Amino acid sequence: MSLIDKLKQRRSYREFEPESFDIQLLIDAIDAAKYAPNGANKQPWTFCIIKDPDIKKEIRIQSERIETEFYKKITDQWMSDLKALKVNTDKSFLDSAPYLIVIFKHIFQYDQNNQQTKVYYPDISVGIATGMLISILTDLGLDILTYTPSPNSFLSSILQRPKNERPYLILVVGKGSKSYKLPKITKKPTEDILKIY
Ligand SMILES: Cc1cc2nc3c(=O)[nH]c(=O)nc-3n(C[C@H](O)[C@H](O)[C@H](O)COP(=O)(O)O)c2cc1C
Repeated sequence: MSLIDKLKQRRSYREFEPESFDIQLLIDAIDAAKYAPNGANKQPWTFCIIKDPDIKKEIRIQSERIETEFYKKITDQWMSDLKALKVNTDKSFLDSAPYLIVIFKHIFQYDQNNQQTKVYYPDISVGIATGMLISILTDLGLDILTYTPSPNSFLSSILQRPKNERPYLILVVGKGSKSYKLPKITKKPTEDILKIY
């Protein structure tokens, strides 16, 4: 199947098969995603692969705690949008999937003298690298979920990241569960999203 066809079939999974696979696949995928275009080549990202069951469990516990609070605050419309996607406070995919990739963006960096230096367009840069990584993982036949707990600073504490890094998102990676019923969604027709001048 071509990459274009694979990307057209990509869906977000919220349940994963328990079987793991060689971590080298993820290392190679990240090794390619790092070639993403980025502001002034500052490469303002860190990719953390989590395979340790205890760390995955801790991320799940903290996420479910945060989501319970989050759900109390969101609007009825938001709640109904999430319900349609079968998104709820159960985040069991965080410790059942074989790997999590927690992506951090740099809000500044350090030079050789440990002085703070600027980064440019970190959100756009990390978004592009994440998109490239998702495309590579899709090409490798892996399934993912982009998971965005809010607030997310607990990830910095659990993974003991330095203060110039902020959590960006979690990519849950594995093989989607065969029994998972994908939410029925549609994509906009190309003529609605593409304008040629
Ligand atoms: C920035 C971003 C944040 C997302 N956050 C979540 C999330 O926190 N939980 C979740 O279950 N899905 C999350 N998703 C997945 C979307 O719900 C999903 O991509 C969308 O419904 C389209 O479905 P599809 O990926 O199967 O095409 C997120 C996606 C993006 C791009």
